[in-house]
Amino acid sequence: MSTRRVHIETWGCQMNVADSERMLALLANHNFEQTKTPENADLIILNTCNIREKARHKVLTRLGELREIKKVNGELILALAGCVAQVEAESLRKELPFLDLIFGPDHIDELPALLSRAMEEKVTAETFRKPGPLTETTFQTDQLYSIPIDLAEPWVDNERFEATKFVNIIKGCNNFCTYCVVPYTRGREKSRPVEEIENEIRFFIAKGVKEIVLLGQNVNSYALDNTQPRNNPHEHTPFLDLLRHVANIPGVDRLRFFTSNPHDFPIAMPKLLQEIPSICDQLHLPVQSGSNTILAAMNRKYTREDYLAKVEAVRKVRPEMAFSTDIIVGFPGETDQDFEDTLSLVKEVRYATLFAFKYSPRKLTSAARLKNRVPDAVQNRRLQELLNLQREETERQNQAEIGLVRSVFLVYRTIKAPHYWHGRTFQGRLVRLPNAEGKSGDTVNVLIEKASATSLEGRIV
Ligand code: 5AD
Ligand code: SF4
Repeated sequence: MSTRRVHIETWGCQMNVADSERMLALLANHNFEQTKTPENADLIILNTCNIREKARHKVLTRLGELREIKKVNGELILALAGCVAQVEAESLRKELPFLDLIFGPDHIDELPALLSRAMEEKVTAETFRKPGPLTETTFQTDQLYSIPIDLAEPWVDNERFEATKFVNIIKGCNNFCTYCVVPYTRGREKSRPVEEIENEIRFFIAKGVKEIVLLGQNVNSYALDNTQPRNNPHEHTPFLDLLRHVANIPGVDRLRFFTSNPHDFPIAMPKLLQEIPSICDQLHLPVQSGSNTILAAMNRKYTREDYLAKVEAVRKVRPEMAFSTDIIVGFPGETDQDFEDTLSLVKEVRYATLFAFKYSPRKLTSAARLKNRVPDAVQNRRLQELLNLQREETERQNQAEIGLVRSVFLVYRTIKAPHYWHGRTFQGRLVRLPNAEGKSGDTVNVLIEKASATSLEGRIV
């Protein structure tokens, strides 16, 4: 069989990035190679995100553009994947009859089979009228990552070897935060068996990967029995066992994980952080709001006080821990006082990085039915105020790095400037090294000489 070419466009979170890599790996076993140019592709996959507004609109626009390529290349298979595909399949298949395939995140493992079916249907369609794109969006309840990837070479992007790999440990989410569409796009939580995770990590390590990032919508509920009530505090959880297990795999130099819902963040975690030095000083702990009223309305199941106590406990054992967070401003009913509570929490925690979003009502979620919406102008003002506050804090933290010698993990360099490296400190801060020797995955000692609001600069000492 001759080699065919696939072009994937990936939007949204790390979960989608990992899903796209998995698609590439599966397709590579079926004689596909990756191309960066959609015009050269035999297969184009749009892997979409539905977390905030305008997702549907964005998809329609991009597919409209890609359709033009179809006019030139009649053989082209155009596929829609990811979270928009999952929740909008029914309406999109009517609106976009020129699509060949629509599949949800739970059908990635079947991609090669789906593709053959889509191709057959395409041939049939040339004789008969086509019924519309082949669509697969049911949730699988029992199936996990049934097909172990025979990880040939496909994930190695030769232009930019990456010493960091994301490894999925749990899919879906059971939390049903009232604003969030994820439980509807990704379904219920399903954890991957330890052996499968370990095999994948060992494979990556053998290829030269040094840093592993364990990935899930809610990693801390890894392998928790869904039938049991989730009582806080989780003294000990299977996720802690998994971390210990992965840290012991030879060659895992750096270990990170995200995302953590603070409610499910086990109180025994600080002890583990003390025990395992390879876990980086970087923790994404989305708080969403600093107001207990709003947290309750969001169904977050923790209070401001619970959250701050967990941050404090981590700082005690890891004083340099760089916390990052997500915050939604303008959740329905958010008052000025609620927002003030968010600002004061942000000041208290002193985040390294903060991602702020204006509330956006999502179809299927319960908050979408709330009437007391915050006007757009107020949302914008709050967003700006929050971002300004954080910018000052990030800049202050970056300035404080000047003069320090930091251990820096080399990540990538630009092809055009082979000595211009980009690396990350143990706290995840970006360091530019205009004149350095090394290879991706090396750890070097760097004297930090300059700092801006977005990055540090230094030289190897
Ligand atoms: N509106 C705004 N932000 C949202 N997020 C999730 N759902 C919504 C929504 N409906 C944000 C949350 C989450 C991040 C990934 O996206 O802050 O942590
Ligand atoms: Fe969405 Fe909440 Fe689950 Fe995160 S924990 S994915 S915000 S429902």
